[in-house]
Amino acid sequence: MIGTDINTAINFLKQGELVAIPTETVYGLAANAFDENAVLKIYHVKNRPQFNPLIIHTNSIEKLKSWDLVLPEKMLLLAAKFSPGPLTFVIKKSNTIPDIVTAGTDAVAVRIPNHKLTLELLSKLDFPLAAPSANPSGFVSPTKASHVFEQLGEHIPYILDGGDCEVGVESTIISFLDETPTILRFGGLSLEAIELVIGKVNTIFSQQSTVDSRPLTVNQPIAPGMLSRHYATKHKLIFDFKETDFNQYHHDRIGMISYSKNYTSIPISNQMILSPERKLAEAARKLFSAMREIDEKDIDVIFAEKFPDLDLGRAINDRLKRASVESK
Ligand code: TXA
Ligand code: MG
Repeated sequence: MIGTDINTAINFLKQGELVAIPTETVYGLAANAFDENAVLKIYHVKNRPQFNPLIIHTNSIEKLKSWDLVLPEKMLLLAAKFSPGPLTFVIKKSNTIPDIVTAGTDAVAVRIPNHKLTLELLSKLDFPLAAPSANPSGFVSPTKASHVFEQLGEHIPYILDGGDCEVGVESTIISFLDETPTILRFGGLSLEAIELVIGKVNTIFSQQSTVDSRPLTVNQPIAPGMLSRHYATKHKLIFDFKETDFNQYHHDRIGMISYSKNYTSIPISNQMILSPERKLAEAARKLFSAMREIDEKDIDVIFAEKFPDLDLGRAINDRLKRASVESK
C-alpha cells in the first residue's frame, strides 16, 4: 500500500514490519533498528548479503548520544552545518546498536535525512530506523514511491509517499574511524563542501586501484556499494565512450544518458539529456529515473557520458561506472 499517513507507518514499524520511507536522497527500506527480526526482514526482502551493514536514521544528534554513541569533534562540525542532509557518518558502534545492523563489525553508519515527512516520523520514534535504499540488492536506487512499488511492493506493507527525492543520489559516506576522515562513498554532499568545513579528507578511492575491490584497512569493514556490479540495468551500459564506439551498434538501437548534448545520430526518444543547462545537481536528481526509463526502451545498449569529475559529478560518475561493470 502507498500512502502519506505517518501514523500508519509508525504502527507498522512498531509491529516489526518494514516501511519504505522517503528521504532527500533515495527511498529507504526501513525497520526498527533495535528489533533484530525486523532488520532481518530487510536483508531478506532486498536479497542483500548479510555482510553488508545498514545505515541507521534518526532525527537528532541528542538521540544518537542517548544510544551511547561517541560523536567525534569533526563529525559534530559537519553535522552542525549539513544535518539534516545527504551525509552519513561512520563511527564506532555502541553496545546499544544490534550486531545485525552493523553486520558484526564495530562501526555503525548514522544519518539524519532531510525530508519533512520522514523527520516528523523519526521525531515520533524512540528507536532509529535501519534503512538501505529500497531496491533489490545490486539494482538502481528508487527516487519515487512508484519505483519502490514496482520492485518491492508485494513485500512491503506500507510505502510512505513523500514525492520525488530532491537530491536523487545516495548520501555521501564519511568514516571517522581513522585519524583523518575518509570518504567511503561519493554522494549528495560534495567533497568540496566537506573540506571547506573540516579540511582535507581522504577518499577510499585514492587508496585502491579498482572500483570493486574491498577496502584495504581493517578499520573500514565493508566499503559502501563495493560489490562489483551495482546500479545494474538490464541492458549493457557503456560508460565514458567515444562516438566511434556507436558504430558497433544500430544507431536507432542505442540508448543515451548525457549531460547536455543531443547526439544527432541517435533517435531523440532514446536520449536522456539530464541537464541542458549543465547543472550537476539537476543531473544527479534525474539520474536514477533516467536509468530506469532508458532501460525500458526497445534498445540494445546504453551509452553514458562521463560527467565533470567534481562536486556531484563524482557521485554520478561513481554510479554510472558501477552500472557499467559487467556481471560475472
Ligand atoms: O542516502 C542514503 O544513504 C540512503 C538513504 C535511504 O538513507 N541509504 C543507502 O543505504 O544508500 P545503502 O544500504 O543502500 O547504502 C549504504 C552503504 C552500504 O553500501 C554499506 O556498505 C555502507 O553504507 N555502510 C553501512 N554501514 C557501514 C559501516 N558500519 N561501515 C562502512 N560502511 C557502511
Ligand atoms: Mg543501496
